[in-house]
Amino acid sequence: MIHIPKAEYSRRRKALMAQMEPNSIAILPAAAVAIRNRDVEHVYRQDSDFQYLSGFPEPQAVLVLMPGRVHGEYILFCRERNAERELWDGLRAGQEGAIRDFGADDAFPITDIDDILPGLIEGRDRVYSAMGSNPEFDRHLMDWINVIRSKASLGAQPPNEYVALDHLLHDMRLYKSAAEVKVMREAARISAQAHVRAMQASRVGLHEFSLEAELDYEFRKGGAKMPAYGSIVAAGRNSCILHYQQNDALLKDGDLVLIDAGCEIDCYASDITRTWPVNGKYSAEQKAIYELVLAAQEAAFAEIAPNKHWNQAHEATVRVITAGLVELGLLQGDVDELIASEAYKAFYMHRAGHWLGMDVHDVGEYKVGGEWRVLEVGMALTVEPGIYIAADNQNVAKKWRGIGVRIEDDVVVTKTGCEILTKGVPKTVAEIEALMAQARTQAA
Ligand code: GLY
Ligand code: MN
Ligand code: MN
Repeated sequence: MIHIPKAEYSRRRKALMAQMEPNSIAILPAAAVAIRNRDVEHVYRQDSDFQYLSGFPEPQAVLVLMPGRVHGEYILFCRERNAERELWDGLRAGQEGAIRDFGADDAFPITDIDDILPGLIEGRDRVYSAMGSNPEFDRHLMDWINVIRSKASLGAQPPNEYVALDHLLHDMRLYKSAAEVKVMREAARISAQAHVRAMQASRVGLHEFSLEAELDYEFRKGGAKMPAYGSIVAAGRNSCILHYQQNDALLKDGDLVLIDAGCEIDCYASDITRTWPVNGKYSAEQKAIYELVLAAQEAAFAEIAPNKHWNQAHEATVRVITAGLVELGLLQGDVDELIASEAYKAFYMHRAGHWLGMDVHDVGEYKVGGEWRVLEVGMALTVEPGIYIAADNQNVAKKWRGIGVRIEDDVVVTKTGCEILTKGVPKTVAEIEALMAQARTQAA
């Protein structure tokens, strides 16, 4: 399995500590276990920030970074080993494992945190934490601070500054290392294979969930624990619902099916969309819309390179789509005026992409000092223009209604432009029709 090497976690902790103010402390909790219903839990997924700095996969843990601490800068609070619990729920690293396998300098039982952590915080001037994103943890943090305050008359020194960790950490996460790109390539490869499998399995009379099953099969076979987000399998008019979730409708002759799905490998997401005809052959109208979206995506790729700014790719898609909609008679007027009045938003209402990484809509600022961010090597993003003509849109000729097309790929900025990570899925009309025809011949 391709994964982030241990040394990289250590490098990240050091890089973060190098940016922290002198005499400070950073404190981050692991994700809580989420209950699905009664005593059934959701599949556990570590918090992305916690994972980024530790690679530690367990719940009930707190990571502490104390730059300059003589007895060790990296402290992990985690569950103790417990033969009875491990028999039921699986192995735990314990404190020994936290040090041996996860690089902690010191490790303590999580049950001792209230006794130990106030003593570690005391005397530090600044506390870095993800303030506001986890109210329960914010309360704990204040409790620990109050323990120190209550001893002020005895000379205890509580910190005076509380700083949001997000700014430093999320900026680090925006730049993907070679190891991260390698993991993202693997997630993209498996997801591409899943889309190919779903195209091959596509038949009139199946259901949306039949194709979702094909995706899940490839994700799990490739070693992914789960999809990076709820897979969207949207046939016919459902393709015009941007974040459609039901996935239970029939696949009908003459309909398109839009699949937006990607798996997660070692907590790194992929995010691919393809749109194809259920019966293997695009109608004239479907092909016209599809090829327009594809042209918009190609124009966007050309705008992704160092020194180009974040919005250039989006602007390129808007121009191509607006001009194309005028040519098809779906919009009327002057292209520049239609762009200025945002008339295209009736058909293309989302942006051309987002940062991609440990979170599918990854962290990182899109603007700096009020200006669009300039792209740099190692930034990863999606490129996903779309056109959606609702089934009940009375403003367009009937033949266009119910067509929804999105094409989405994942890219990383390189020195000369960008690398497309998700090349493994056919994309042109000819390629997709050929793949689907071949699958039908083989099945017959
Ligand atoms: N899958 C959600 C998105 O494409 O942004
Ligand atoms: Mn997507
Ligand atoms: Mn996306």
